[in-house]
Amino acid sequence: MIQNIVKQLDPLPSKSKLVIFGGGFSGQRIASVGRHFGANVLCSRRKKNSKGADFIFDSNIKVSNEVFEGATHVLSCIPPLLSGEDPVLKQLKTQLLNSKKLRWVGYLSTTGVYGDTQGKWVSEDSSPNPQQERSIRRFSCEKQWLETKLPVQILRLPGIYGPGRSAFESLISGTVKMVDKPGQVFSRVHVDDIAGAVLFLINLFSQGKDPKVINVADNLPTSNLEVIAFAAKLAKKPLPSKIPFEIAKKSMSPMALSFWEENRKVDNKLLCKKLGYSLIYPDYKAGLKNCFSKLK
Ligand SMILES: NC(=O)c1ccc[n+]([C@@H]2O[C@H](COP(=O)([O-])OP(=O)(O)OC[C@H]3O[C@@H](n4cnc5c(N)ncnc54)[C@H](OP(=O)(O)O)[C@@H]3O)[C@@H](O)[C@H]2O)c1
Repeated sequence: MIQNIVKQLDPLPSKSKLVIFGGGFSGQRIASVGRHFGANVLCSRRKKNSKGADFIFDSNIKVSNEVFEGATHVLSCIPPLLSGEDPVLKQLKTQLLNSKKLRWVGYLSTTGVYGDTQGKWVSEDSSPNPQQERSIRRFSCEKQWLETKLPVQILRLPGIYGPGRSAFESLISGTVKMVDKPGQVFSRVHVDDIAGAVLFLINLFSQGKDPKVINVADNLPTSNLEVIAFAAKLAKKPLPSKIPFEIAKKSMSPMALSFWEENRKVDNKLLCKKLGYSLIYPDYKAGLKNCFSKLK
């Protein structure tokens, strides 16, 4: 429920206009919360008939200046191009720099920029050490945004889940795999906490609390086995047998394998202790209960 997200948030100033590039899973949820506060929110998608497409943006298509008229807040939820360029900056850097009313610019990045720490915690003070090609591109995009000198905040996200994108989908379709890699954990964040954190950070930013980089993760990095087992219990589905990682990896896509090759726990103390954001779903159990309630 949107009420769960907004209860601890201050409303955006009146006449706020939030332009979201990449109205996918997170972008649409952030847009809903922004609209709840009365902001004028515009979301981009690449195809005209896509759900929630307020305007079309593709790295190869020009965007009309109208989109930026009166924009007070801009958020990019779009991953880097294969060239390493940021799609939004590649097309629209000049318009952004010329936007006179801009008070905040957010960039959704990934905790992949920290690389593999063999299960150790990473905070915003940890030196980025991206090892995967896509994480190298991501770190380059973070730098491109910071170099603009716009009022930018980088939000580093671990695995995103939420209704429609959680362990239940693979459990129900029968495609779930119980990959067993002892010691391996993943950090994650519920999409509602991304939306909550974005609006929370926008407000703090206007009060001068403006860290450049913030991890947005829940409190409990956990193995995938535990997450699937909890989801199966809720859904009353049988658990498939465990598959040792060394066997499972033979049939994994290069993308899936790359996630299993890195092991880290993402520290959220800056967001949740120093800045004071209160997570709606502090761990996977609370988050999965929400996802399960939306299945019915
Ligand atoms: N999924 C995860 O677990 C995860 C974890 C950490 C970080 N992230 C990053 O966090 C951000 C938000 O994640 P998400 O899962 O909410 O994203 P998502 O659902 O995949 O949405 C991505 C959005 O970017 C748009 N897009 C992609 N390439 C584009 C291009 N070249 N030009 C214009 N638009 C483009 C997509 O357009 P269409 O709507 O037209 O498809 C979509 O709206 C992304 O940058 C993602 O890489 C994701």
